[in-house]
Amino acid sequence: MSEKATIQFKDNNYELPVVTGTENESAIDISSLRGQSGLITLDIGYKNTGSTYSAITYLDGEKGILQYRGYPIEQLAEKSTFLEVAYLLLFGDLPSKEAYDQFTESISRHTLVHESIKKFLDAYPTNSHPMGQLSSLICSLSAFYPESLDPNRSPEEVDKTVIRLLAKLPTMVSWIYKKSIGHPVLYPQNKYDYVTNFLYMFFGQRTEEYEVDPVVVDAMEKLLILHADHEQNCSTSTVRFVGSSHAPLYACISAGISALWGPRHGGANQAVLEMLQNIRQGGGSIQSWVEKAKDKDSGFRLMGFGHRVYKNFDPRARIIKKASDDVLNKLNIKDPLLDIARELEEAALKDDYFIERKLYPNVDFYSGIIYKAIGFPVEMFTVLFALGRLPGWIAQWKEMMYDKQPIGRPRQVYTGHVKRDYVSIENR
Ligand code: ACO
Repeated sequence: MSEKATIQFKDNNYELPVVTGTENESAIDISSLRGQSGLITLDIGYKNTGSTYSAITYLDGEKGILQYRGYPIEQLAEKSTFLEVAYLLLFGDLPSKEAYDQFTESISRHTLVHESIKKFLDAYPTNSHPMGQLSSLICSLSAFYPESLDPNRSPEEVDKTVIRLLAKLPTMVSWIYKKSIGHPVLYPQNKYDYVTNFLYMFFGQRTEEYEVDPVVVDAMEKLLILHADHEQNCSTSTVRFVGSSHAPLYACISAGISALWGPRHGGANQAVLEMLQNIRQGGGSIQSWVEKAKDKDSGFRLMGFGHRVYKNFDPRARIIKKASDDVLNKLNIKDPLLDIARELEEAALKDDYFIERKLYPNVDFYSGIIYKAIGFPVEMFTVLFALGRLPGWIAQWKEMMYDKQPIGRPRQVYTGHVKRDYVSIENR
C-alpha cells in the first residue's frame, strides 16, 4: 500500500500521497491539497519544493553525490567526452559507437551560423557583456528557423533544433569574443572535434597555424562535463518554466542563459575571479576578508562559497580543484590568485560562521582559475558555463515537453492592500 501523509488544520485531516524516487527520496504530493482544503503551500525560493519528476540527474547534497543518468560524475569526468555526456543526458543512455559517430557528425555539419549574425555582433558596443549578447543571439536564431517556433511540430524538427543549438553555440561564443577584441571571426573546421574546434575558433588567428595543447582540451572537456546538468537549479527551472508555455526552444535556452548570468548562479565564476583580484589589490589579511563576508552590512559574500543543495561538499569542486592543479603544473603557470584562493578556502573552512551554515567551495570557486590559466578573459567565464550547461537545459526541456507537463504557475499569499475605492487625483 502506498504511504500517505496527513496534514491537520483546524478540525480537519487531509490525506496526501507520499511518492518515492528510485534513490529513495520521498516527497508529499500536495497537488490535491488546495482542492481538499483551500490551502496552498508557501516555500519562498522553492527551498523545499519538488517541481517535477525527473530521470536525468540525481544529486544528494548531504553525501556530495552527483550522477547523470545513474553514472557518477567522477567516472564521466575521468573517462567520457562532453559530446558523449551530452548524448547521455539527451537520450538517456551512453551511445553505441555508431550512434556516437552519427551524433558528432550531425553536430559538425551544423556549426556554421547565418552570416547575418555578424551584423548583430557589429551592432553591440565592444564592451557589452557577452552573456547579454549570447542570450539575445540565441533567441534571434528562432527568426532564422521559423519551423522551430512550434515546439510540438514534430520530433524530427525538435531534434534538428537540438543539433543546431549544440553545434552553433561554440561558433557564436567564439565570434562574440573575436568581435569584442576587433579580430576577424574564424569559421568552424570539421577536421577538429567539438572542444578543439571551439578552442581553435576562440584562440586561433587567421595569420598562423593553430596548435592546441592536449592538456587544455582535456581540462575543457572536464569543465564542460562537470557543468552539463545539475537538476532543478535556477537556470534549468527557468528553461522548463518558459518551455511550459510552449515558447520556442531557442527562447527557452535564451531565458536559461539570462538566469545563469547572475552572480548568485553561473555569474559566480566571474565574480570569484574578480573577488580574488580585489583581495590581491586591496591587500589586508585573508582573515579580514573572511570577517567582511560574515558582516551582513558589508554586502560582501565569499563568491564561490555556499550552495543551495550541497551541504557537505560539492563533488564538482573536488574534481575541478585537482584539474586546476594539473593544468597549472603542466602549463607551468604560477598564479598568485591561486594562493589567495587556497588561503581563503582554508580560513573559511575553519571559521564557525561557515561551518555552522555549511558553506563550502562550490564548482565556481576553482573553475575561474583554470579558465584564466587557459587564457579566457574573465567576462567570458559565465559564457563557458552556458556552453557546458546547454545539453542539460535541452534534456530537461525535452523531458518536460514529452511528459506533457502543465504550464508553470505558482500561487502566492497576497500581502497588499485590501479592497479600496479609487480617489480622483485632486483629492489625494
Ligand atoms: N558568503 C557569506 N555568507 C554566505 C554565503 C557566502 N558565499 N552564502 C551564504 N551565506 C550565508 C547567508 O548570509 C545566510 O546567513 P544567515 O543564515 O545568517 O542569514 C546563510 O549563509 C544561508 O544563505 P542563503 O543565501 O539563505 O542560502 P541559499 O541557499 O539561498 O543561497 C547561494 C545559496 C546563492 C549559492 C549562496 O550561498 C551564495 O550567494 N553564494 C555565493 C555565490 C555563489 O558562489 N554562487 C554559485 C552557486 S553554484 C552555481 O550556481 C553553479
